[in-house]
Parts: sequence; C-alpha cells; structure tokens
Amino acid sequence: MQTYHHISGLRKALALHRQQGQTIAFVPTMGNLHRAHLALVEQAKSLCDVVVSSIFVNRLQFGLNEDWDKYPRTLQQDTQKLISVDCDYLFCPDEHEVYPNGMDQQARVIVPSMADVLCGASRPGHFEGVTTVVTKLFNIVQPNKAIFGVKDYQQLAIIRRMVEDLCMPVDIVAGDIVREADGLAMSSRNGFILPSERPKVNQLNQSLNWIADELKKGNLDFSALEQAARGQIEHAGFKVDYLTICESASLLPAANDDTQMTILGAMYTEGARLIDNVSVVLSD
Ligand code: PAF
Repeated sequence: MQTYHHISGLRKALALHRQQGQTIAFVPTMGNLHRAHLALVEQAKSLCDVVVSSIFVNRLQFGLNEDWDKYPRTLQQDTQKLISVDCDYLFCPDEHEVYPNGMDQQARVIVPSMADVLCGASRPGHFEGVTTVVTKLFNIVQPNKAIFGVKDYQQLAIIRRMVEDLCMPVDIVAGDIVREADGLAMSSRNGFILPSERPKVNQLNQSLNWIADELKKGNLDFSALEQAARGQIEHAGFKVDYLTICESASLLPAANDDTQMTILGAMYTEGARLIDNVSVVLSD
C-alpha cells in the first residue's frame, strides 16, 4: 500500500490507473479502524480494480464541545490493518492540505432538508462538515464508487442526496452494519463506553429491533412505539437523544402508507453517544 499526504501525489498515482481503464473505489474514514471499516475496504476491493482509503479527522464536522481532540489517532495500527486487507492507497492529509484557506473561509456544501434533524439537531453543523469534506475528497480521488457504512444511516442518506442533487459522477454503495455478538454496532466511539455500562448498551439495538418487529406485525402507531422504546432505553439507564421511525430515503417521519422505513436512534451513556438504526420493508 502506498501512503500519500499530499493531493498532488495521490492524483498522479490515480491518473495512471485511470489511463489504464481501471476503476477506483474509495472508503473515506477518520481512522481508528475496526472490523467494520475493514469490511468496507473488502467490499470496495470486490467492486473495483483499485481501492483508496483516507484517514482525516475532520474538525469541520465536530462541534465546539465535541470530542475532536479526544478522537483516537492510531495511524500506525490503521496502516497495518489497511495493508492486511490489501488496500492499495492511503490518503492521510493534514488540515492545511485539506483546508489551505482555513476552515472559516472554506466553501461549504449543504443538504438543507436532511441535515438539521436527528443527529443534526443535536450536532449543529455536523453534516455540513461531512458533506463539505466528502465533496473535497471525491474531487481529490474522483472514485467510480464510494462505500459508506449503513451504521451512519443519516450520513449515508445525506451523501446520496448530495450526489443526486449535484450530479456527482460517483456511485454510492452501502456497507452493512458490523455488530458485536450482543448486537452493539461497531463504532470508533465504542472505546469510550465504560466497562460498567457495556453489558446494557445493546438496549438501543434491542429496542430498534422491537419496533421493527411491531411494524412487521402491522402495528403502525408510530408515536406509541417510539415512546415505548424510549422507555425501554431509559429503564436500562441511558438518556435518549432521539428515537424516530422515518421514511428510509427522505428521513421524514414515517407515514402509514410508507413501505420502506428506518428506525433511527441515538442515546447517551456516561462515556459515549451511540447511534444505531434498523430498516424494514413492508409489503404494500
Ligand atoms: O463516517 C466518517 O468516518 C466521516 O464522517 C467521513 C465520511 C470520513 C467524513 O469525515
């Protein structure tokens, strides 16, 4: 695997592959890689000739009181992990390379309707930071396909909408959620979960699955389901940030005639803020 810190070097290397007619898949990350990231790289390998991953802890998507400085930087281990799954290129720029005019002066990309709800409501500006950096990374790498984990469902939906609205020539591919044995979705933030709370944190996943089962049984009383699931999570000792049944593509609150629904939830533990989601397809 070749590592580049500068846009110019990476572009030159990738241009050679394009000249040979090879396709490029891209897996953007913020590092601290775990099995779920590596599964995305493996999926990328199966789709294209060349795989590029990036590691950049993007300050633009962190709020002032968020954990940008605490976010684990594990470049050496990450590099080894990417090599182990045959990633071809790693792009890990510093902040000046990505934002040469400073973050305040940086042109922004906004997906208005979907960025201020759910995670966006408690993390103002977060998705603007994501869509801005992802646009820059797409322009740098110019991939044929880009792979994003379904775990960050709202991020995936917003990126799909951005690509559609701005006619970006890239296919967005969803990578399945990878879970621990008890259902906890893998995340770089799981390392912040306190050992004492770990046995119960899968309550979020259990409650989302409970709603999914109820929907499949024909129970469409969305607000009662949401309220009951919130109660389950609070009973397990956690604070719910949001728990909402949405229409899968628009992320609008689900309506009775929707057939594709996603239940999205976020909760606070003492040490971490965890998110998860479960999708259901109901027959007409
Ligand atoms: O999902 C992430 O790790 C980040 O939001 C991303 C897509 C790499 C943008 O910084």
